[in-house]
Amino acid sequence: MQQNPSDLRQLEALLDFYTESGVDCFLGDDQVDWYELTRQQAARRRQNQASQAPIQPTPQAAPPSAPTPGAAQASGLSKVPSVPANATGNLAGGGLAAVVPDKEIVDAARDLAATAASLEDLRACLDSFDGCNLKLTAKKLVFADGNPAAKLMFVGEAPGRDEDLQGKPFVGRSGQLLDSMLDAIGLDRSSAYIANVVPWRPPGNRTPTPQETEICKPFIQRQIELVNPDILVFLGAASAKTLLGVQEGIRKMRGRWMSYPTKGGEISVIATYHPAYLLRSPLEKRLAWRDFLSIKARLSGE
Ligand code: URA
Repeated sequence: MQQNPSDLRQLEALLDFYTESGVDCFLGDDQVDWYELTRQQAARRRQNQASQAPIQPTPQAAPPSAPTPGAAQASGLSKVPSVPANATGNLAGGGLAAVVPDKEIVDAARDLAATAASLEDLRACLDSFDGCNLKLTAKKLVFADGNPAAKLMFVGEAPGRDEDLQGKPFVGRSGQLLDSMLDAIGLDRSSAYIANVVPWRPPGNRTPTPQETEICKPFIQRQIELVNPDILVFLGAASAKTLLGVQEGIRKMRGRWMSYPTKGGEISVIATYHPAYLLRSPLEKRLAWRDFLSIKARLSGE
């Protein structure tokens, strides 16, 4: 049957509307008993963990902090298993099922992240890790952008739509503002490294849940350790609260130099407003500008 062009236009307009509204996965008509599915999956995971071999460390030498294979086994380190495609219900995402975010998964994430001896390893770990449900709906892993040898590292909260499409952090409107702010202090992405606490886009750009953040935290902590910048900048309250464990709001916290502890020592850290917030509240740019001047001064050892 011939399609009416005006129907097609309306259909396209409707799809555009959905995309703009953040709708990015389809739900089917059949009802899914998620409680039953997650119960089954938890049972399968327990079975698999009892029978699976531990993750092998990568061929490179493991860092001093990484567990040895024996230690990994002793600490229960094993790959969080993917589950058969037929357990995925109607979720988009190609063969992975939702997991119940429990302590076991957070422990598995911590053990897995600790095995990464390099940023390439860490990316591979995230590629193989099926413990975070955000991976089911995200199009791409958004690992990092910029220069891993830079003295300056930025950490945001989670990727948005543009980042998910390109697989790079801060490439949308917030990223353009971040680029202008870097430019204003004489820097660009070749002199900074950029990552997020959560490396997969939450559907519809919702805030990551506390469980999702806890599961992803060991990976960004390891990423910071591996980059080992001189200066760390938390973009917005979410990354600062997650990684410093502080409860203060960003208004109070921003602009103050603090210390971020790692296994190898301490890194100077400052929190500033998230570029997305600055786009909504342009008057606050003057305070962010102060923070960037402070970053510039510290980078040049003043
Ligand atoms: N906001 C973030 O926190 N991170 C991105 O990568 C993009 C927008």
